[in-house]
Amino acid sequence: MGAILVIDDEPGIRATVKDILEDEGYATLTAEDGPIGLETLRRESVDVVILDVWLPRMGGIDVLKAIRADHPAIETIVVSGHASIDMAVNAVKLGAFDFIEKPLSIERLITAVRNARALCELKLENSRLKLKTIENDDMIGSSIKMAEVRELIDQSARSDARVLITGENGTGKELAARRIHELSARASGPFVAVNCAAMPDTLIESELFGHEKGSFTDAVARRKGKFETAHTGTLFLDEIGDMSLSAQSKMLRAIQEMRFERLGGEQTIEVDVRVVAATNKDLRQEIAAGRFREDLFFRLNVIPLRMPALRERPEDIPALAAFFLERLGGGSSRRLSEGAIAALSSYDWPGNIRELKNFMERVSVMSDEDSISAETIAHFIGRSDGKDEESIPDRLDTLSELRLSEAREAFERGYLLHNLRKNGYNIAKTAETIGVYPSNLHAKIKKFGIEAGE
Ligand SMILES: Nc1ncnc2c1ncn2[C@@H]1O[C@H](COP(=O)(O)OP(=O)(O)OP(=O)(O)O)[C@@H](O)[C@H]1O
Ligand SMILES: [Mg+2]
Repeated sequence: MGAILVIDDEPGIRATVKDILEDEGYATLTAEDGPIGLETLRRESVDVVILDVWLPRMGGIDVLKAIRADHPAIETIVVSGHASIDMAVNAVKLGAFDFIEKPLSIERLITAVRNARALCELKLENSRLKLKTIENDDMIGSSIKMAEVRELIDQSARSDARVLITGENGTGKELAARRIHELSARASGPFVAVNCAAMPDTLIESELFGHEKGSFTDAVARRKGKFETAHTGTLFLDEIGDMSLSAQSKMLRAIQEMRFERLGGEQTIEVDVRVVAATNKDLRQEIAAGRFREDLFFRLNVIPLRMPALRERPEDIPALAAFFLERLGGGSSRRLSEGAIAALSSYDWPGNIRELKNFMERVSVMSDEDSISAETIAHFIGRSDGKDEESIPDRLDTLSELRLSEAREAFERGYLLHNLRKNGYNIAKTAETIGVYPSNLHAKIKKFGIEAGE
């Protein structure tokens, strides 16, 4: 489980509460104000926040709102002096778990933390169950190629063998990995995805294997690595072709032995994990170029699963487009005209299913036709491909046909996407450039459904 974070501007209170909680066996972090606290939440795994309502820089209520928006799984306990009791009541209305009055009673504090923790565990279990039912059957496509993919997924789900999924961008590699897990005997265990490309070399070991408190400068609390979190379940190593050679050798040892030590730790940890990896690179070519270890490749490539590009199975396009239109339209009964289907089917979709999905999202926002015409498709196609930005007058032309609220959202999404791309999807960096809090940016990314790499 994660740590407890205490956000309070009084050093005395921070120290006392930390002592009490650590005596009770909780890993505890502290922050002296809201922005520092929110930054900590982005880095560390935290279940419960103890939040003073009266804070400098950013008020407790605003901090609470940011936590609710960005980290809905975290429970917050609000602490207030007698004078600010109505703020605390307000906080509970906004979704705080509980509030405690100052001066703090140790017993009251411990009970509140214990209850908040119990609720976290319950929610975790619930969301696991929910995820399972939602994501179960959304792999669309009845082409022969997809039938072969399904067959291979079913087969590999029956064994515990490692699977290496290859395929171009947006072909459904992650979806396939999730299905293998859901259909396997490990389905009741966790599915843990790691993006190997997004991880800086310096952090990869601690991400994968975890660290002990104090093992390096930033390691304020003990943290479980992904291998440990995936125990009894499936570990999905995404973008494995982008891992550095030194990280590859550590990975090799870990997947061979299923044993490792946490960073800065002595104890050897054994786990039971099934490994599924994915890449859009040609690993044989990477091996030839000396960028990928051949022995790791052979370990991972026990069952090879290649996800076909959309252009290899254009017969799946109509069903996919209809599926996205229905889902994005919130159950509305809009249809695609025959001309629209023909236009969609003859396009090349370099970004594959992800591009088609984004495209249908755009069409469903920008057009209000009940039966979407070929002209609408033609109008937007070619604008959504590749990563080029439309020119401002072009965009204004399209935007000015919308209601102000829709135009504002379309602009905001495009603006954010542009800046995220420019900064390599680094949230902290992008937030700084455009002048918002990272937590705020995070909330917007969620709101607009922006995906890294889009
Ligand atoms: N057969 C399918 N039916 C419906 N939706 C699909 C299908 N395949 C993929 N998708 C959707 O398309 C999007 C991209 O899929 P996914 O993330 O699995 O692709 P990927 O190959 O991992 O992409 P990338 O190379 O960019 O990491 C997701 O939103 C996914 O849900
Ligand atoms: Mg992926």
